[in-house]
Amino acid sequence: MKILVVGSGAREHAIAWKLSGERDVSDVLCTPGNPGIAAVARCLPADVGNPLELAEIATRENVELTVVGPEFPLSCGVVDVFTERGMPIVGPTRAAAALESSKAFAKDFMARHRVPTARFKICTSAGDALATIALGEFGYPVVIKADGLAAGKGVVIAEDRAGAESAIGAAMIDRRFGASGERIVIEEFLVGDEASYFVLADDTQFVAFSSAQDHKRLLDDDRGPNTGGMGAFAPSPLVTADVERRVVAEIVQPVLQGMAQEGHPFRGFLYVGLMLTADGPRVVEFNVRFGDPEAQVVFPMLDEDLSWLLASAATGVLPSRPARFRSVPHVAVAIAAGGYPDSTENGKVITGLDVAERVPGALIFHAGTARDDGNLVTAGGRVLTVVGSGSTYRAAIDVAYDAVSHIRFEGMQFRRDIGQKTLNAE
Ligand code: AMP
Ligand code: GLY
Repeated sequence: MKILVVGSGAREHAIAWKLSGERDVSDVLCTPGNPGIAAVARCLPADVGNPLELAEIATRENVELTVVGPEFPLSCGVVDVFTERGMPIVGPTRAAAALESSKAFAKDFMARHRVPTARFKICTSAGDALATIALGEFGYPVVIKADGLAAGKGVVIAEDRAGAESAIGAAMIDRRFGASGERIVIEEFLVGDEASYFVLADDTQFVAFSSAQDHKRLLDDDRGPNTGGMGAFAPSPLVTADVERRVVAEIVQPVLQGMAQEGHPFRGFLYVGLMLTADGPRVVEFNVRFGDPEAQVVFPMLDEDLSWLLASAATGVLPSRPARFRSVPHVAVAIAAGGYPDSTENGKVITGLDVAERVPGALIFHAGTARDDGNLVTAGGRVLTVVGSGSTYRAAIDVAYDAVSHIRFEGMQFRRDIGQKTLNAE
């Protein structure tokens, strides 16, 4: 099978790496890819926001199956274009991608299908939003979310009325997120631990993947600004068999049934962002793609062919059983460029990767890297993900940080506490 992976991050590197080692895969192509992905796949330049260009590449290259990593090409309708042309692809249509691209759609959808989530109100004008805050019905802290995609910056947890009013002003009057802030969701603050749960779905059939936990803040002890994710581990010790049963019965099944009923059957990876509250699991958000850096810890644990699962999803013949996983803890440390998440320092020479890659149990996935005059240099916010595995979380953490210790570039930032939360469980 000839497979095309769309994207250029460490998540796509993990997907391409897994596929490249599989029996039924003859070729892995990746567009646009990056220098790390080039070691396991043939990389082709493309504008991933242009579905027609992607379809032309897939046709020209005789690609038999395409899998889309990031949300952006999905929201541009890449799956719609491939499906119209009868080309197998794994990912949701643009309409189904609204579960991620519109928080207002996702909240209304959950209300219609009784999926547990924070109490909320959708506001379409600053006046409405300010009046809602004045009523104080959600208490404090209160959560203010821009409706549309806002590069991870659209959520404000306001401690008091003044904070809520300023968040509303930023989104709806100053239009800090452009059209994404035309509508906002005001919601109750949920108390609990966060975890993620992943399934691969096709219509109402799905294969459960794994749970994981992300570390969204830039600095140790969950301080500093939100980022795309500074590290992750899998599986999550918080997602016990009992929690998993509830997540499947109360969230995954009603969501897939609801999407199918409403005429937008969901195909692809569904990422359920959970808050594990005293009253049970609640949805914080959906993403319509795999997590990054969660993919970098989950795919290395997968103990069967990803190509077969993806082909089954694309053709509607997924098995009715969970995916097979090795129960070996994996821990991922993201290494970011100086300035991240506000800006990025590109062009800094990266050294030590060869030594880091030789650490037993370590894997290195590239994100923001480029080749420049024979050197590997930084070319993006999150530069690399370093993954460690071991028989315990402690061992996996040690492997990951041993590998990180060999890597150097000017301005590099990484958290030193990734995975610490698992040690209490251990
Ligand atoms: P989101 O972009 O919706 O995932 O929100 C970003 C982060 O804000 C989440 O990962 C949570 O840490 C936090 N968050 C969002 N909604 C809530 C909520 N209702 N209660 C508590 N924290 C929340
Ligand atoms: N790690 C969070 C995300 O992929 O959205």
